[in-house]
Amino acid sequence: MLTPWGKNPITFIRQVVAVCLMPSLLDDPNIPTDVKDRARAVLKGCKGGSLGSYSDSAGIEIIRRHVADYIEKRDGFPSHWENIVLCAGASEGIRGTMKLMIRHENGIKPGVMIPIPQYPLYSATIAEFDLHQIGYYLNESTNWGLDISELERAYEEAKKVCTPKALCVINPGNPTGNVLTKENIQKIIQFAYEKKMFLFADEVYQDNVYAAGCEFHSFKKVISEMGTPYNQMELASFMSCSKGYMGECGLRGGYAEIINIDPAVKTMYLKSISAKLCPTTLGQAVMECVVNPPREGEPSYKQFMAEKTGVLQSLAQRAKMIAETFNSVPGMSCNIVQGAMYAFPQIKLPEKAKEAAKAAGQAPDVFYAFQLLENTGICIVPGSGFGQKPGTYHFRTTILPQPELLKTMLEKFREFHSNFVKQYE
Ligand SMILES: Cc1ncc(COP(=O)(O)O)c(C=O)c1O
Repeated sequence: MLTPWGKNPITFIRQVVAVCLMPSLLDDPNIPTDVKDRARAVLKGCKGGSLGSYSDSAGIEIIRRHVADYIEKRDGFPSHWENIVLCAGASEGIRGTMKLMIRHENGIKPGVMIPIPQYPLYSATIAEFDLHQIGYYLNESTNWGLDISELERAYEEAKKVCTPKALCVINPGNPTGNVLTKENIQKIIQFAYEKKMFLFADEVYQDNVYAAGCEFHSFKKVISEMGTPYNQMELASFMSCSKGYMGECGLRGGYAEIINIDPAVKTMYLKSISAKLCPTTLGQAVMECVVNPPREGEPSYKQFMAEKTGVLQSLAQRAKMIAETFNSVPGMSCNIVQGAMYAFPQIKLPEKAKEAAKAAGQAPDVFYAFQLLENTGICIVPGSGFGQKPGTYHFRTTILPQPELLKTMLEKFREFHSNFVKQYE
């Protein structure tokens, strides 16, 4: 039994979900008592004691309370359960919150600042909601750092054509794999405060930090530490069961913590999400496990910790392996994968390859990706899918294949690249 990443699922999560779906397992002596306790609590929170019922649109109350406890423990600052909204993956939470930005005035669109390169959920949602995309470039030469001067540049330019309303930050980054420092986050918060912007903190990779010296700092914690007036800013932060050590992306669980929004806006927001009834109760049960995992002394603790650290250590090893390999290939450069699950290397493409791409009616990086796929079976996403500085070419690859497979893939990749360059030089 494997997750889509080819790893064994976390036993505790699957057991809790199994018992929630099949409560007769509560009588099974092979199921650990802490699994049964979690499942009982979830079922008690469900209408009619069944996962088959609709829940409140914002999610099952006991799980929302446990999410708030998790955030409080993580950050050391209070979190209120009524500010927690459970969602079918972070995507649903992000889209639902982004909807709040829709307010066109005299034909002028609200603007949303997003990193370039970015995760395409953002550009797609901005386009769908007829908002204005304000791209700010991440700095490849500082390991995809976020420069405040670049935020200023993007903001000033966009102000001429839209009303900038929101700033989205992905930390740790997809596709860039960077992890922001606390000082950097403080400056981003100051910028957003001065410009009166709504902050979106996409923190779905909060468990995926690998590089020495890097640490995850939540936006909620940093604005709380900064005190007044920053701790009164509108902030929505997002978490998911799709990433981390869990990898349960098909079960669709996530949460949004939304703070400091006007009560009338909150009422409207809750009304708007009620139209889709509720997030899947299965995903909510998974989130219960994420925020309320086995505690020391409970029967599942040892196995849970062994599985969790096993996954995270292996991802850290692969993150290192991937950057080192790409950096050893002439014509490729790759930043350190500090976190998340991706590398976004830059490739230098020969002029003749660019001409061949043009003749094929493809962007150069798309041409490269297709050639790679056809010659080796390796699938990457061309950088143009995420955005990149004009004239530069990148691709995104993940660190998810198991180490042996990843090693084989990297060797094939190296060989392909060398042949490709020779062919078009
Ligand atoms: C940065 C980022 N945000 C959000 C998501 C969506 O996650 P979910 O599966 O929870 O909807 C992803 C998925 O890859 C992501 O990379």
